[in-house]
Amino acid sequence: MTELCSVHDLEEGQSLGFDLPGNPVFAVRKDGEVFVYKNECPHLGINLEFMENDFLDMDGALIQCSTHGALFEIESGHCLAGPCQGDYLTPVPFKIENDTIVLA
Ligand code: FES
Repeated sequence: MTELCSVHDLEEGQSLGFDLPGNPVFAVRKDGEVFVYKNECPHLGINLEFMENDFLDMDGALIQCSTHGALFEIESGHCLAGPCQGDYLTPVPFKIENDTIVLA
């Protein structure tokens, strides 16, 4: 069981990366809901972020790959535009226990 962080550390419209050994993941909070995905772009299988904890586009509306700019829906991980259009980020199962995001 791996604890990521408190839900209070993940602010609305923000993203946080977690460099777990062999399993980098990131979490996003949107409309009060938490989403967790593997930090792996379906295009080349590399990490998505440009800078630490920076996984979103300028508006904070979509997840953006920093390498070739692919854009992903936060709620589904569906790639809406870019070289891997139609693919999906890999969701990571988790639960929230006592306000802590815990990988299942
Ligand atoms: S590596 Fe992500 S869009 Fe190319």
